[in-house]
Amino acid sequence: MARTQIIAGNWKMNKTVPEAVAFARELLQGADLTGVEVVLCPAFPALGPVVEALSGGPVRVAAQNVFWEDRGAYTGEVSPVMLRDAGCRYVIVGHSERRQYFGETDETVNRKVKAVLRHDLVPIVCVGERLSEREAGETFAVVERQVTGAFAGVGETAAAGMVIAYEPVWAIGTGRNAAPEDAQAVNRFIRELIGKLYTPAVAEQVRIQYGGSVTPENAAALLGQPDVDGALVGGASLEVESFRAIINAARRV
Ligand code: PGA
Repeated sequence: MARTQIIAGNWKMNKTVPEAVAFARELLQGADLTGVEVVLCPAFPALGPVVEALSGGPVRVAAQNVFWEDRGAYTGEVSPVMLRDAGCRYVIVGHSERRQYFGETDETVNRKVKAVLRHDLVPIVCVGERLSEREAGETFAVVERQVTGAFAGVGETAAAGMVIAYEPVWAIGTGRNAAPEDAQAVNRFIRELIGKLYTPAVAEQVRIQYGGSVTPENAAALLGQPDVDGALVGGASLEVESFRAIINAARRV
């Protein structure tokens, strides 16, 4: 069974509501978005407006973060109930910037993954090693620990529908992407790990993106790898033209 490529634009802390809505409208205009799943990940205030601007079309919306409780006295947090209500389909969980600046751990990532699944949303779980870990030869061990932690207690059916983004931390926002064969090696490793944690059938279904300095120039080579099922795009998703070029590269795979 062929896996549909999934291209997600992670805007991080960029774009006001009018800017986000204008991007969404422009993306829909004249673009052939068939054969690939396209996802936009705006900041919280723009989620509802972007969902509305995209309504009736094929592009889905993801939140960039979530808390694990449904409601209550958690000032500043946003629950999966609220994200679902806003029209999200996906939620990015455990992005390296959240692990680095906001203290997220494999355990909190797991709690968030389970909360997201409980509300019929789909997690995009981010994993990836830091430069020092790569240089110490720990890439596979780090990724194994993060994936195993994120999937703890998650059932087979839910796991098969999830998305994993392999994002080496040293490649994020640096202009230094992983070599396509290195991305392939880690994505393959993750797929085999999912096969061991679940079944080979689940491993075949789960989609594994690559993220970290993906651009229109390097997208085709990265997405052409057999175990790279899409991209989580930061900087190059901020302009419609470059994001569309990456979508087109995915359509040609
Ligand atoms: P980048 O970010 O494309 O700007 O490197 C990727 C990400 O953080 O998801």
